Amino acid sequence: YTSWLKVKVIVVLRDDSILPFSAFLTDNFGRRHNYLRISLTEKCNFRCQYCMPEEGVKLTPRGQLLSTSEVLTLARLFVQEGVDKIRLTGGEPLIRPDVLHIITQLRKLEGLKTIAVTTNGMNLARLLPNLKEAGLDLINISLDSLVPAKFEFIVRRKGFHKVMEGIEKAIELGYSPVKINCVVMRGLNEDELLDFAALTEKKPLEVRFIEYMPFDGNKWNFKKMVSYQEMLDRIRQKWPDLEMLQAGQTDTAKTFKVPGFKGQLGFITSMSDHFCGSCNRLRITADGNLKVCLFGNSEVSLRDVLRSGASDEELLQIIGAAVGRKKKQHAGMFSISQMKNRPMILIVGLRNAQARSPNVLTSHVPRTPGAPVFCTLLIDAKINQRNHPVRFCHSQNSSKDASCKESESNQTTDLKAQLTHTDAQGRAAMVDVGGKLPTCRTAIACATVSLGPTAFRLLRDNQLAKGDALTVAQLAGIMASKQTSTLIPLCHPLPLDHTSVTFHLDELLNAVIITATCRTTGRTGVEMEALTAASVTALTVYDMCKAVSHDIIITDIKLVSKTGGKKDFHRHSKQEE
Ligand code: 5AD
Ligand code: SF4
Repeated sequence: YTSWLKVKVIVVLRDDSILPFSAFLTDNFGRRHNYLRISLTEKCNFRCQYCMPEEGVKLTPRGQLLSTSEVLTLARLFVQEGVDKIRLTGGEPLIRPDVLHIITQLRKLEGLKTIAVTTNGMNLARLLPNLKEAGLDLINISLDSLVPAKFEFIVRRKGFHKVMEGIEKAIELGYSPVKINCVVMRGLNEDELLDFAALTEKKPLEVRFIEYMPFDGNKWNFKKMVSYQEMLDRIRQKWPDLEMLQAGQTDTAKTFKVPGFKGQLGFITSMSDHFCGSCNRLRITADGNLKVCLFGNSEVSLRDVLRSGASDEELLQIIGAAVGRKKKQHAGMFSISQMKNRPMILIVGLRNAQARSPNVLTSHVPRTPGAPVFCTLLIDAKINQRNHPVRFCHSQNSSKDASCKESESNQTTDLKAQLTHTDAQGRAAMVDVGGKLPTCRTAIACATVSLGPTAFRLLRDNQLAKGDALTVAQLAGIMASKQTSTLIPLCHPLPLDHTSVTFHLDELLNAVIITATCRTTGRTGVEMEALTAASVTALTVYDMCKAVSHDIIITDIKLVSKTGGKKDFHRHSKQEE
């Protein structure tokens, strides 16, 4: 039933087109992610109190940030899959020297309807004519006070008049509405609510009051947050006929208008009334991590996958798996305030968060205690470099054949016909694949190792007596994939073009989730290779941890997808659970 449900979700039509929406960007709750926020830099010329500490944040070395072409490659891939809105964020995105070039290139992506920027406005007046020319559609400008001294206290820098100039320039160039982001903090700028609202009388602004959110390092305190309800009450006292406007399905702001005013008001109620149910956003941090939820600390390094030479299909599988793991909703505001997460600037920007978000790490970086754990090691055997297209049943332009839905009834109707490894008498027999044409075939398999809290912590922090368990397990998995035919009697020996083993550490379950991907150009598929890699990786994790605990359970060894053969298979995320 769940797989049927998922198939239904996948074939739901996009709002205004007849194209089905990408399965990779659709999560288990049917949310279609068509909005991507890309952080272009971790740097900022302001130091807003709610965003980052006075001394700034430790910047990621330049080489570890996404390059221009990596940003554009990822953008292209996401747009191909159905993203139609991209917002460039930071840090401060307009201090990235190639921002104009990036916008110009994004504009060329067919299917991308909206390019937006969130900026602090400091360089806006100067850059906006060119940005507009390049194709910028929407602008959000941060402005937390209309009192110059207070503004400069909040952002810890000078620049009030420049920001106001930027806002005027945006209006002059016809942006309508120009969105103003105002983070409301008790005792700091709450007394300016009415002044901000009054700005919308004559100007085409949407002033968006944002509930102050907790992020690592910003000393969030419940008492400092002014809730939506309280803000609304105060504004209603002055303008009792304030009208609520109809919201779009995925809008995060609740919008209002004072009748007769040119502009409008918005409230972003992330804390008091989350909008997880209709969330359509994904985020890429400046260092190339995909974040499926602003308040979750689970991340996957797309940069590492890109740099390992992975194909679009492999990237999509990894993106799809991350989207598949997206939770129904984030934790409540009190839990969030206790959670380890990137500081805001590292989401809409940075990375010393490596030390904070314990789920992600690349194997190329030496792991220190507490460092995050997402490990990608890809080998490219380059045995067979013929570039056969890999068929992906859920890409938009592939023929939507029934094979990708491989339903249960399909699997059982002609069981005999599917037992290819037996002869007419039911005895084991190796299939002769000599008559088949070689195609490019990929298989992905998963396994879960539940470790319990102590072993999990030691493994995560790389403090196991036996050494670096993840790296050892990863190599074991890769080597095992190459040995598959010598282990499984009727398997053909195959030239592997490529094997990768990656890990996701699930802090809640104290479990390691292993993903193994194998690719070949050949006459038969690599599902056994992927399953062997996942299994042996899991066994090696067990072996590395067994001195700490024997209460380790290996579960859920399963094929996730298999493409390029006669019949593709893609396990839908619900099935994966
Ligand atoms: N709470 C609410 N909003 C925040 N922003 C940054 N940090 C916070 C926070 N702690 C928003 C600001 C800014 C945008 C980049 O992010 O509105 O405009
Ligand atoms: Fe810079 Fe924006 Fe953070 Fe302020 S909120 S410090 S302007 S990134």
